[in-house]
Amino acid sequence: MTEQDPRSLTEAEARVEFQDLDAKIAAADLAYHQEDAPDLSDADYDRLKRRYLALLDAFPEFAEIGARVDTVGAPAASGFGKIPHAVRMMSLGNAFEDQDVEDFASGLRRYLGLAADAPLAFTAEPKIDGLSLSLRYEQGKLVQAATRGDGAVGENVTENARTIVDIPHELTGAPEVLEVRGEVYMSHADFEALNARHAETGGKIFANPRNAAAGSLRQLDAEITRARPLRFFAYSWGELSEPLAATQIEVIRRFEALGFQTNPLTRLCETIDEVLAHYHSIEAQRADLGYDIDGVVYKVNDLSLQERLGFRSTTPRWAIAHKFPAELAWTHLEGIDIQVGRTGALSPVARLHPVTVGGVVVSNATLHNEDYIAGLDSKGEVIRGGKDIRIGDWVQIYRAGDVIPKVADVDIDRRPAQAVPYAFPTTCPRCGSPAVREEGDAVRRCSGGLICPAQAVEKLRHFVSRSAFDIEGLGAKQVEQFHSDGWVKEPADIFELKARYGSGLQQLKNREGWGDKSASALFQAIEDKRNIELGRLIFGLGIRHVGEVAAKDLALHFLSWETLVQAADLARPAAVAHRAADEAELAERHAAQTEGRRARISDVRAAAIAALDVPAEAQAAWDDLISVDGLGPSVALSLSDAFANAEERAAFDRLVAHLTVIAPEAPSEDSPVAGKTVVFTGSLEKMTRAEAKARAEALGAKVAGSVSKKTDILVAGPGAGSKATKAAELGVLTMDEDQWLALIGQA
Ligand code: IVH
Repeated sequence: MTEQDPRSLTEAEARVEFQDLDAKIAAADLAYHQEDAPDLSDADYDRLKRRYLALLDAFPEFAEIGARVDTVGAPAASGFGKIPHAVRMMSLGNAFEDQDVEDFASGLRRYLGLAADAPLAFTAEPKIDGLSLSLRYEQGKLVQAATRGDGAVGENVTENARTIVDIPHELTGAPEVLEVRGEVYMSHADFEALNARHAETGGKIFANPRNAAAGSLRQLDAEITRARPLRFFAYSWGELSEPLAATQIEVIRRFEALGFQTNPLTRLCETIDEVLAHYHSIEAQRADLGYDIDGVVYKVNDLSLQERLGFRSTTPRWAIAHKFPAELAWTHLEGIDIQVGRTGALSPVARLHPVTVGGVVVSNATLHNEDYIAGLDSKGEVIRGGKDIRIGDWVQIYRAGDVIPKVADVDIDRRPAQAVPYAFPTTCPRCGSPAVREEGDAVRRCSGGLICPAQAVEKLRHFVSRSAFDIEGLGAKQVEQFHSDGWVKEPADIFELKARYGSGLQQLKNREGWGDKSASALFQAIEDKRNIELGRLIFGLGIRHVGEVAAKDLALHFLSWETLVQAADLARPAAVAHRAADEAELAERHAAQTEGRRARISDVRAAAIAALDVPAEAQAAWDDLISVDGLGPSVALSLSDAFANAEERAAFDRLVAHLTVIAPEAPSEDSPVAGKTVVFTGSLEKMTRAEAKARAEALGAKVAGSVSKKTDILVAGPGAGSKATKAAELGVLTMDEDQWLALIGQA
């Protein structure tokens, strides 16, 4: 529940974690089925499986390296009925350092268009380490209780929930429909007593209160749940027939008035300094609370701002969990492996003597990059007191939630006399090409491009993965085989397999593992994928930073391959200028640091861009590109680089020559603005431009930068100039911000 979003992991990091989970699940399955001695609690096992599936979802190509994919693929069978949540149950983004919290707040201000000194209050409350539960009341009566499940569908645990003393069966003065959400947990004292009782009676011994709470709530016999002392804190809500209040803190007070328990350490904080002070105060009280918490949750207090901020795919933008520091253990570093990823990144992985950290056996950990090994963070600042990491060292490993283990510290006193500083390879361990590190990039990358077998294979595996081309019968294993035989060097070759090697199917049939049937099925499956959705094509190219969501968004925005290519080409000079500005910013930061002055970032960026004299149409194309929902400059830059790289571009062209690209369908057809082209101009008062655009696109509208014959709606705020005139000339429907909000039902 507290893991890092898999999409924010690099492929190598995710792979390490995935393989680790795969081994653990295999071991647990063996212990369970053959040795009849499960060594993991059900809840822990489920957690491993959930994480495994989440990683698989983000990196479908892992299906080929996972031994347990087929067994884990199906959700755990369960005796509970399923309940779809009327409003999705979300998870939370994580912050680990105070700085992450500052960044969270400044990101919110940027999104909302709030000045640095404008008021922005937060609630801060403990993050309870239990399991979340959604309680549905209709006409004041508890009618349903559901676990979180996968967020969309949970398990019906209504009868069990009724046995929990903190959960009222009836409410007075509640809205007609009210879903109260919160955390079910077990206190330390009750947990100890339960385990002691079970030790005497031969019952199940739970590893921690969270597992005990989960195991107790998910009992098919509600009488067993009744005998387990579960508690409940209310902190959030789902469906409502009318608003409960205007602020988060008032909702909490309403919950109390209705008879729920809310956490006594919930505070309203006016500033981030107050938020952080409360965090540290809760941290100091943590051991004495009598129940487990694993961090502090911050939520924007003003509910109208929460509404404006909305949600990312699984987390609200308006909340974050500030986690407590993780669990630690010492072990021996036996070696360092270098993995080469799809984009050439050389990722060092620590091979550890297996050690238990917070109840989980860890045998490898990410070392991120060469700076990290040398004792520097991504900003060039000293970490671990500057101690480097050497093979043979004793290292301290930590885990925060379910994130992959990291090295926290090195014990210099126990360093073997012969240990030498780790020499990070400057050539690719797979193809021998120079491994180069660009200014501002923390990662060293193999420069071999497609000649590097590691990169080529990773790209191919990615290309055939489930979210990309998903060719039946052509998984990572087969594609690796074809690559090592020299049959397939790049994606385009897949579509030439039949012409080159398929004559009479003889060649393919002669190969191990292929028979008549499978060979012709493969050729048919390949034929089928000559028609491919634009989003899958873009994702399949394996461009750095362009994940599945970005690819879909690009497809929706540009609608055809040609338009995308044209836009990327047109925007190139502006992309180059953006990179120059990034480099100038970096240099300025260094200079400012050494000279002990404030960095003049915006001046320096502006100067770098001005020096390059970017044509206006290139700038417009770039602005359009980075405004694609959720894309942002680093993704756009990497996209632009891929299209500008002659080799890659030629490989794209060779591929696309085999394909018929299918345009995406607009996401929301029943919205009044679906498929419409909208332009915003003038100043908006209730939302920022970015927000207006994101919302319009979510409703299926296309947002353009300038008015043309194709424009359907112009939303003109105060100060609208030439665009409004042009719209009037063209007879384009023009409305103000309020009319627009009324149209999209968000007034
Ligand atoms: S708010 C949309 N508040 O943490 C808001 N969650 O990592 C979603 N949790 O699934 C949740 N204490 O089970 C919230 N005070 C708190 C919480 C809390 C524990 C859990 C909850 C959620 C998970 C997300």
